[in-house]
Amino acid sequence: MNPVADKTKIESRLRCIGCGTIIDHADQNFRCGNCGDLFEVFFPSWADEASRKAAGIDAGALKKLWLSRRSSFLPKDTSGVWRFREMLPALNPGQEPITLREGNTPLYELPGCARAAGVDSLLAKHQGMNPTASFKDTGMTTAASFARQEGFRWVACASTGNTSASMAAYAARGGMRSLVLIPEGKISWGKLSQSLDYGAVTCQLRTDFDGCVRVLNEVVKRMPVYLLNSVNPYRLEGQKTAAIELLEQLAWQTPDHIMVPGGNLGNSSALGKALLEMKELGLSARLPKLSVIQAEGANPFVRSIREHGGKTLTPVEADTFATAIRIGNPASWKKALRAIQSTGGTVEQVGEVEIASAKAEIGADGVGCEPASAVTLAGLKRLVKQGFVNSRESVVLILTGHGLKDPEFTLKFHRGDLFTGTRDEKAARVLASQQRAPIVLDANVDSVIRTLQQFDQADSGR
Ligand code: F0G
Repeated sequence: MNPVADKTKIESRLRCIGCGTIIDHADQNFRCGNCGDLFEVFFPSWADEASRKAAGIDAGALKKLWLSRRSSFLPKDTSGVWRFREMLPALNPGQEPITLREGNTPLYELPGCARAAGVDSLLAKHQGMNPTASFKDTGMTTAASFARQEGFRWVACASTGNTSASMAAYAARGGMRSLVLIPEGKISWGKLSQSLDYGAVTCQLRTDFDGCVRVLNEVVKRMPVYLLNSVNPYRLEGQKTAAIELLEQLAWQTPDHIMVPGGNLGNSSALGKALLEMKELGLSARLPKLSVIQAEGANPFVRSIREHGGKTLTPVEADTFATAIRIGNPASWKKALRAIQSTGGTVEQVGEVEIASAKAEIGADGVGCEPASAVTLAGLKRLVKQGFVNSRESVVLILTGHGLKDPEFTLKFHRGDLFTGTRDEKAARVLASQQRAPIVLDANVDSVIRTLQQFDQADSGR
């Protein structure tokens, strides 16, 4: 593709995933007026080989162009999302994106976790290393930029905490007001504090995430408010770039498996869309299997597939310590279904003790993540045992949120009281060897040295 194509608008349109209706401008609830289903962005010039040729799309040239932007200091080149702008719907000429230099996240090796899971090697793409410490920033930069372009003064979302933190930041950067609806008492303090800091009008509703979504859907019908939940297809376009950046980091060698946590199922949908588009455009030679992992207590997608063959989804009352994915009625389940089916992936669910253990294992490799991200490792362990993942296959975990997002979980885990009074209390005893409670000592040298020696002895006895 011609690098100066930059200044021309990349043609994209919206297509309903249910009835195929094609439009250029969605209603405020981002639902199809005909059938009520969701829209996705599509690029007419990618439709077939002939149109791709006519549009000058050349995989090799794109790879070079994206790499060359790494030596540029322009904001839209230093953003790890807009660097891949040929894969995104374009803003109008003259419009600059709202960017906090999102994306550009590291790919880490996790040797201890690989051993624990029974695979030869294991990589983690850490989307928690984004400006507001979750993957949401990659989608917020695109959708918030479209909100501003359309002239909205208010943006809004319902959230389990990360979307709201991200939206509040991008709204502030873009000079817009933001309205956050979160379930009272069910999100981490760290995430709540972020949305306050970035100046959002933050409403804690006495309901769960799904209840917040219901309220917000009515609000956007009655007020000129731009909806920034992941039903907004421009969010998913930005989130696609995590998969593009991942393949670039792997020198365009596709891994065998990618594991992603599933909540509202926007992220798995976005990653799946990117994988399919990269294959279609010749950027990658094959598809990795994309698998979605849910918490057992918030497993509507797993149940939909296991109990109804993915034909319907029955909402559940969600409950899990991984509050980010405490979601019972995921909006994007049909898109996520297509992502796993077209890549040959699967779904798995994991229990609370498995999640806590996996999070500590990731931590012990020197990489912090929030509980919702750790379902990926817990799920991988199950999929290795079941033989779905072979020990020699290459696997990438998508870590969605930073370890400091939910320090209360981590502290309770290490102090040993995370599961006190829960039905997992007994099962959680297996976690004792992973717990590292802080040690309170008198302020003298001998007691510190004694402690050191005790640990030395324990280590040499292993
Ligand atoms: N991991 C983290 C850390 C999350 O915050 C979320 C979703 C997910 C995984 C699941 O991603 O919804 O695209 O399937 N958090 C949302 C929020 C819902 O409001 O912050 P998903």
